[in-house]
Amino acid sequence: MIEIPHIVAHRGASIEAPENTIAAFRVAGARGAKWIECDVTLSSDDKCVLIHDETLERTTNGTGPIHQSDLASLRTLDAGGWFSDIYKGERIPTLSDTLETLYYMEMGANLEIKPSGCDPVRLCHEVIAELERARDLPILISSFDDIAVAEMRKHAPEIPCGWLLETLPKDWKAEYARLGASAIHIDHAALTPVSAAEIVDAGVPLVCYTINDVERAKELFSWGVTSVITDDPAKLLTAIPRRPF
Ligand code: G3P
Ligand code: MG
Repeated sequence: MIEIPHIVAHRGASIEAPENTIAAFRVAGARGAKWIECDVTLSSDDKCVLIHDETLERTTNGTGPIHQSDLASLRTLDAGGWFSDIYKGERIPTLSDTLETLYYMEMGANLEIKPSGCDPVRLCHEVIAELERARDLPILISSFDDIAVAEMRKHAPEIPCGWLLETLPKDWKAEYARLGASAIHIDHAALTPVSAAEIVDAGVPLVCYTINDVERAKELFSWGVTSVITDDPAKLLTAIPRRPF
């Protein structure tokens, strides 16, 4: 079973640096985070790139859907200037760049597979090929996309895979077993002490997103939550340097 650190930096240290960039991953590491969470999708020429949205407008100076731009044109875009002038010129990272950075920083990742309009099966196969070259890194895949989860389980059962949810289905135990997932990742607002206990008592690692409030993080840990995903790893790690319960 993979050991998930108690604090994971959401899209990197995305409160301090532009999300899903190498800069944000480096800041997360510098603040003491052992893992980042990041979002991976495909360019039009089937290269794995990190970006959250389906379109380029919010986090770059480009326009249009990601999966209609090739890697060469995505790499010309500025993915940092929208956040702050000091990050102007930051690029959309490839998954390969990211894995290399994690390797040198001795970090791991929750890699969220986000098809964002591309073919989820194709995306999974490209991710698996990239991860083949980074076997030593601690990586936990997750996805809201059931096709992606099933594809990862089928073709790379050795890579742990979290079932990513907005709410907990009533029959979650049967579905969790059917998927062969290794963890449940859920919006913390959808959890109650009772549903958290049900998951924890079943021996299922429980990861929550996205928590930037220290008291709320402490409460979730008291419910048995394994890990919280936060935009602000510096604040949470200062207040909660170790898993408290
Ligand atoms: O993986 C947890 C969280 O990142 C899921 O939501 O929209 O931030 O990718 P989102
Ligand atoms: Mg995500």
